[in-house]
Amino acid sequence: MKITVLTLFPEMINQSLGHSIISKALAKDLLEVEVLDLRDFTTDKHHTADDSPFGGGAGMVMKPEPIFRAFDYLKVQNKNFRSIFMTPQGIVLDHQHVVRLVEEDHIVILCGHYEGIDERVREQLIDEEISIGDYVLTGGELPALVLIDAVARFIPGVLGNNASLDSESFTNELLDYPQYTRPRVFRGLEVPPVLLSGNHQQIAAWRSEQALKRTKAVRPDLLESKNIKYLRKGE
Ligand code: ADE
Repeated sequence: MKITVLTLFPEMINQSLGHSIISKALAKDLLEVEVLDLRDFTTDKHHTADDSPFGGGAGMVMKPEPIFRAFDYLKVQNKNFRSIFMTPQGIVLDHQHVVRLVEEDHIVILCGHYEGIDERVREQLIDEEISIGDYVLTGGELPALVLIDAVARFIPGVLGNNASLDSESFTNELLDYPQYTRPRVFRGLEVPPVLLSGNHQQIAAWRSEQALKRTKAVRPDLLESKNIKYLRKGE
């Protein structure tokens, strides 16, 4: 899979991708990330990427020309990509959405900045708008990194052990069960005995129960949506 990021702050993206699991995935060519600086697509000597809004108002708006030029450049190489604009006005990202995006061969992520972006960009160039939550950040770079990380985990080979994908939160629409490692007793706090029992059936039952308990306490909404789905299935 290839991901192209269009940004005014390429270093924010490049630096973050140079660590841990994602950097290994890049080194192994399981994932390709291309980071393009939108200022390279400006034509004036000051490399202007923003301007004041027509009609007045506070803040600056990202100009359309550099973004359209960047898309022209991309389309010369490959017309078949899915373009995503990171914005708090988008659909809030969730597990199902991430899983859908992994099917794409090439995603182009546009990072916004300032007060917004010229509407013609949204209308003409963008396939979908994604938010990472109901709060406003200073720019789209951190949301783009969140999206890249979430998608990359589902590319075969990126996580060493595929079992870790199956058992984790949201794959089963439940939150994770509690995990423990050595030592057995730490500052007087003991690991639940069932985990030391060697009885895999009991361990699995305990983990499901814990996951359900945690989900009920913290995210009851996940259980409600699950019930609705089961009702529909039984119709
Ligand atoms: N840009 C600024 N805030 C954002 C958010 N919550 N999600 C996606 N992009 C953003």
